[in-house]
Amino acid sequence: MCSTFSVDSLPDLTGRVYIVTGGNAGIGYETIHGLASKGATIYLCARSPSKATTAITTLRSKLQNPDAPIHPLPMDLMNLSTIQTAVTTFLNRETSLHGLILNAGIMCTPWEESTDGYEAHWQTNYIAHYLLTYLLLPVLKETAGRCEAGVVRIVELTSGAWQMAKGPGIWFDQVALRDKEPFDRYCQSKLANLLHVRELQRRVGPKGGEEEEEGRGEVWVAAVHPGLVETGLSANYATTSILGRTLLKMGMGAPPDKGALGTLFAVASNDFKRDWSGSYMVPTAKKGWTWRWANDKDLQEKLWKWTEDQLRWKGFLGTSDRA
Ligand SMILES: NC(=O)c1ccc[n+]([C@@H]2O[C@H](COP(=O)([O-])OP(=O)(O)OC[C@H]3O[C@@H](n4cnc5c(N)ncnc54)[C@H](OP(=O)(O)O)[C@@H]3O)[C@@H](O)[C@H]2O)c1
Repeated sequence: MCSTFSVDSLPDLTGRVYIVTGGNAGIGYETIHGLASKGATIYLCARSPSKATTAITTLRSKLQNPDAPIHPLPMDLMNLSTIQTAVTTFLNRETSLHGLILNAGIMCTPWEESTDGYEAHWQTNYIAHYLLTYLLLPVLKETAGRCEAGVVRIVELTSGAWQMAKGPGIWFDQVALRDKEPFDRYCQSKLANLLHVRELQRRVGPKGGEEEEEGRGEVWVAAVHPGLVETGLSANYATTSILGRTLLKMGMGAPPDKGALGTLFAVASNDFKRDWSGSYMVPTAKKGWTWRWANDKDLQEKLWKWTEDQLRWKGFLGTSDRA
């Protein structure tokens, strides 16, 4: 447990490269602020070029460093082809990736289908992040092979709302949940984020045991619930949920800089230990307890394979792509 964690306790991150989705606002923006304050190079993913430019300008001014290495990486999670393009752009510029932060999200937005035919929560929060991770796993693994154990990590933002998913947790036969409430669609997508991390842990995380060549080559992963944080995310929740409205009116949400601490701890702190990889993290910087679907290995693997098949069928993964 590390509830006294602060940005100051992070190590120097000069020379390390990070990608953060949803970097122009809220928790993602503050995550970038924390990483950049320690010298990291960051690729700020955003769907709006003007929002990306504004965010980078304000971050550099806060850091009092007009040359802080924060670069825009255009990406609209509602359009999977933009993820392929962003990965190509990134790989043309960098040969290392030390941290991937899957942060962008939407909650309780009105019904919408993506360019690729998926419901908006399912695509923005989950499918798009699965594809981004899949395409970046080779560079993450290569980087990990050149670094000390635990330097290379993937952090995915989930939410305590995963526990409120309904029925089978993941409704494989109707993932769009057209007949359910927007909050149900959010809960399912956040459960998928947690299941994704658990399966990543099995595929690329530490396996345990001393014989692992001191962990070289392994990628540490974590699913982070940031708590209730005052950001733009709650705009729709507050209008659709009595609970959301009440909690926010009572000022129960943390400011975004505090909301980003769990992510920063999981992605870069030396106090995040090897045997924490694969964990569900709750505020602040503590290991959370999981039950039911979150611990169901068959469900984790089924979701991975289902998503891989979908993306291959839609042409976003080549036949030679294997994670
Ligand atoms: N805030 C909370 O209380 C809370 C609680 C639990 C979990 N979380 C999780 O924390 C994460 C960050 O949320 P937040 O509170 O920081 O929300 P936020 O302030 O609303 O920020 C969300 C970010 O995601 C981006 N985004 C949304 N749709 C996108 C798309 N199609 N393509 C590219 N970027 C897109 C937004 O960009 P635009 O500015 O262009 O919309 C924004 O940068 C989410 O995954 C959320 O589920 C938050």
